[in-house]
Amino acid sequence: MKKALLFYMILMSISCQKSSPDHVTPKTTTTSNGMQLDYEKRIDSLLNLMTLEEKIGQMNQYSGFWDATGPSPKAGEDADSKYKDLKKGLVGSMLNVKGVAQIKALQKIAVEDTRLGIPLIFGYDVIHGFKTTGPIPLAESASWDLETIKKSAENAAEETAASGINWTFAPMVDISRDARWGRVMEGAGEDPYLGSKIGVARVQGFQGDDLSSPKTIAACAKHFAAYGFAEAGREYNTADIGTSTLYNIVFPPFKAVTDAGVRTFMNAFNLVNDIPATGNVFLQRDVLKRDWGFNGFIVSDWGSIGEMTTHGYTNSDKQAAELAVKAGSDMDMESSAYVKELAQLVKEGKVEEALIDDAARRILRVKFELGLFEDPYRYCDADYEKTVVGEKSFHDDALDMAKKSIVLLKNENNLLPLKKEGQKIALIGALANDKTSPLGNWRIAADDGSAVSVIEGLNAYSGNTLTYAKGADVLTLDSKLSFVHEVTINETDKSGFSEAVSVAKTSDVVVMVLGEHGLQSGEGRSRTQIDLPGVQQSLLEEIYKVNQNIVLVLTNGRPLAIPWAAEHIPAIVEAWHLGVQSGNAIAQVLYGDYNPSGKLPMTFPKNVGQVPIFYNNKSTGRPDGETNDVVFWSHYIDESNAPLYPFGYGLSYTSFAYKNLTTRKTAARHITVTVELTNTGQVKGKEVVQLYIHDKYASTVRPVKELKGFELVALEPQETKTITFELTEAELGFYTGQGEYIIEPGEFDVFVGGDSNAKLSTTFSLD
Ligand code: BGC
Repeated sequence: MKKALLFYMILMSISCQKSSPDHVTPKTTTTSNGMQLDYEKRIDSLLNLMTLEEKIGQMNQYSGFWDATGPSPKAGEDADSKYKDLKKGLVGSMLNVKGVAQIKALQKIAVEDTRLGIPLIFGYDVIHGFKTTGPIPLAESASWDLETIKKSAENAAEETAASGINWTFAPMVDISRDARWGRVMEGAGEDPYLGSKIGVARVQGFQGDDLSSPKTIAACAKHFAAYGFAEAGREYNTADIGTSTLYNIVFPPFKAVTDAGVRTFMNAFNLVNDIPATGNVFLQRDVLKRDWGFNGFIVSDWGSIGEMTTHGYTNSDKQAAELAVKAGSDMDMESSAYVKELAQLVKEGKVEEALIDDAARRILRVKFELGLFEDPYRYCDADYEKTVVGEKSFHDDALDMAKKSIVLLKNENNLLPLKKEGQKIALIGALANDKTSPLGNWRIAADDGSAVSVIEGLNAYSGNTLTYAKGADVLTLDSKLSFVHEVTINETDKSGFSEAVSVAKTSDVVVMVLGEHGLQSGEGRSRTQIDLPGVQQSLLEEIYKVNQNIVLVLTNGRPLAIPWAAEHIPAIVEAWHLGVQSGNAIAQVLYGDYNPSGKLPMTFPKNVGQVPIFYNNKSTGRPDGETNDVVFWSHYIDESNAPLYPFGYGLSYTSFAYKNLTTRKTAARHITVTVELTNTGQVKGKEVVQLYIHDKYASTVRPVKELKGFELVALEPQETKTITFELTEAELGFYTGQGEYIIEPGEFDVFVGGDSNAKLSTTFSLD
């Protein structure tokens, strides 16, 4: 009764107290019963009722007592003490708790046992689907299909919310140019324009139009910032990055999702300009909160406040808490520095209470927007959970997304699509028979073994004879298949080779499924070799000796360097880690029931020594030389500069021709570009038409090419369409190293085509 009365007071209170330091515009929403909610006034009232410790409690996030996605809590910070903090109202959020039963139990403690009964917000890494896992984000990005990507996030949100969770730590919008870094699987690849569009699609999918709907969840843009620039691609390593690259390459997707209303941000483990991102005033206070007007909250990465001391930036948890809160980190994930140190820091006058109020206000705001104050159990309906999780329509959509994510890299002599009848097909590779690897990394709510394998997918086509031979394992048999453990690669066991060779010998076509296991990319999984792991390359070469009619299906979470295969193998299909419907999607593409249209969102190198390699590089003063007997130009003496497959590349079972590229100045800073695209082949297909510009001379040097538009176009055989792009101020300018957006007069090249090597070009000028 006392608690209910208090709630009523909070909800109805309209007294306006001191304003927040961030001067946000109050958001007013009308609820279903017509009550006008003015969150800011209600937060004022609530903050007035809260003790300093309770406000700091809102800034404290603990991992569930059941699961962990990072190093285990330090001694003393065990489940018991976390539980006690929860009961005292000293926890504002939990992560890694899933399922209505567990979430309801914890929410009940927060709501019924604490003094003010403020509901928890529950976060979870819903990176590519919840239970119904879809393709890894890098794969989805290869579709360049924003509507389908949005739908995929929408489904993930619905399934997640039905399980009691109201916040995902996604999308990761880190631009990544280094295939050695394991987390490239989690992002949209190397390009800031594509990355921005995909980031926005994902945020819109997760959050929808109404955050309080039981089908939507809050999104989180991470990792702010430059985490994708870890030196040498080694996880958690320092990022040494100039401000021009920061503003023009790293920030754009973060800015785009901020403008699209993303409600939370996560900072990063790395240093930026020698200051940990978590303690970085420039990133969090100046750029994000001041310049971009972000009024949601920033959560630290796992333990990253405490890790500032390990970096050598702070000398204790206490100083770390002080510098992190001053820098604008609002919520402490799992380092406990805030809950232990902040109150004392305020009492000593080292931290102003206004900073605590601001952080708590931001967190409470998102809780209000999620509708948690109206009904803290709104995501906790066990019957609803049962009907929604794993719903058939999610599987249908996951299949659709998976097919659209596949990229056809090579198809000599039209080996693909496979004939549907009368063929003897050999299927080789342990990954062809794997029902867990296709789930990829970051699929912590999915059940092991829940993916459709390639064998199962191909078996649905019964007109051919299919014989499977493993050939070789990718991982050793004692590898622990878990998110937190290292896997070990099979570097020696070739005992299955001879069986595979004899099956291949007597077959018409050999389908080989090779590549990385799903747990060889993701957090903590950097590689120095980005080839086919273990003995797979030699398996491929052994099979090639007896049958060259090979279709190589790659599964991987990063670009791979496969120069031998690219030269010798007639057909290569990039199938990433495609989620629960993986085998069905691959089979439908191999048999031509789906014509692939994916395009690479990251450059594939020939050689790991070329990494980082990306299409939007700057010209050197000594670019590609014409003669090869003079050495003084920018090159390697043992490898060409060209990638194996460029950014934006991907084939189809049909062919496309581009012609009649025109530009027209429609206003001083508005150029209309048109091009004609014809399907010149025999089957219908889709093409991602890509537009690149090159600002030829500028006050800071611009990349040799920059993607500034794309459109996914479907064409019947022999059909022609005219595609129109509008280049406006948003596309024509760039940021100075001081963060000023400018558009300069001068001449630009414009290129249009099916990949970043597009040759069809013309020029235009801005006055
Ligand atoms: C990762 C984050 C993730 C968090 C919570 C960290 O190790 O860097 O991306 O959201 O753990 O699981």
